[in-house]
Amino acid sequence: MNKKVVKVSAPGKLMLFGEHSVVYGMPCIVTAVNQRMHVKIQKMKGDLIIINAPEVKINNFSISISDLGKIEYPKEVKFVLKSIEVYFNKYKVSSGLKITTHSEFSNLFGFGSSSAVTVCMINALSEIFNIEVSNKSLFDIAYKTVLSVQGVGSGFDLAVAVSGGTIYFIKGGKIIRPINVGRLPLIVGYTGIKADTATLVRRVSEDYKKNKKKIEEIFNSVTKIVNKSRSLLVLKDYVKLGELMNENQKLLYRLGVSIPKLDKLTKAATDAKAYGAKLSGAGGGDCMIALADKKDVRKVKKAISEAGGIVIPVKTGAEGVKIEK
Ligand code: PMV
Repeated sequence: MNKKVVKVSAPGKLMLFGEHSVVYGMPCIVTAVNQRMHVKIQKMKGDLIIINAPEVKINNFSISISDLGKIEYPKEVKFVLKSIEVYFNKYKVSSGLKITTHSEFSNLFGFGSSSAVTVCMINALSEIFNIEVSNKSLFDIAYKTVLSVQGVGSGFDLAVAVSGGTIYFIKGGKIIRPINVGRLPLIVGYTGIKADTATLVRRVSEDYKKNKKKIEEIFNSVTKIVNKSRSLLVLKDYVKLGELMNENQKLLYRLGVSIPKLDKLTKAATDAKAYGAKLSGAGGGDCMIALADKKDVRKVKKAISEAGGIVIPVKTGAEGVKIEK
């Protein structure tokens, strides 16, 4: 029997190693964070889809099912609506819906609110229409949805929103392998600057066309770091992992995606005895991450704050998408 109300949540994410090169088919490592996106879906009679998303100031937005795919969606609700459009088309289902989203994290941090909401939507729709969808299919439908909205992306954020934990990932879900790492002593600093991932990815792609040799050399070095860090994570060798974070940051700087604020926050962290620090994600703003010994955590957090960053408390390796009671 079809269920009438479904609640789903999915975690946000932090890229640990391998941003940008992952777009070119190389591996990356990403972890799920304990700050989550929540979606509640209710079936309704009629042909309206009504959305409430208080964090992005959406109050009773409504669209009729017959307009799906025909009009330009407002940016605040485009991932929700595109998920429905893709899902309805794929499974030949349809119903009026009332949807409420709630995020435990700001969409400014770069924690992947769009990917988390997309994964929540696909999972919730499958529950509500009683359609069995494997984790791999869930990823595939979500990836198709995100690509049709923003045109670019490796899908790493979707994969970890589905699986949770910490994973080794190759573009399009070609490889998604859990890494047995447990919780990492990670400190997160927000720059206060919102980055636009698609713009940065396009910028790197322009640069790739002009300076193929240089960019390939950077990506190959990043890939060596990703592969080394995969085993060091299992061994919990934070000293060596910290060194790899610093190396990865230097390469991202050479790639041109770091900005002075990210340089300042990562330097403040390492000056305060963090094992290592780097930007996390596309660069251009959003967050940096630092790895530190327990005894130095307070000092590192203070240094990041004094350098103008906003420390965000997170726990890594959080649970993947799940149905909530
Ligand atoms: O900006 P974020 O946190 O969504 O990270 C982007 C990471 C990239 O490798 C630059 C893009 C991608 O889709 O993998």
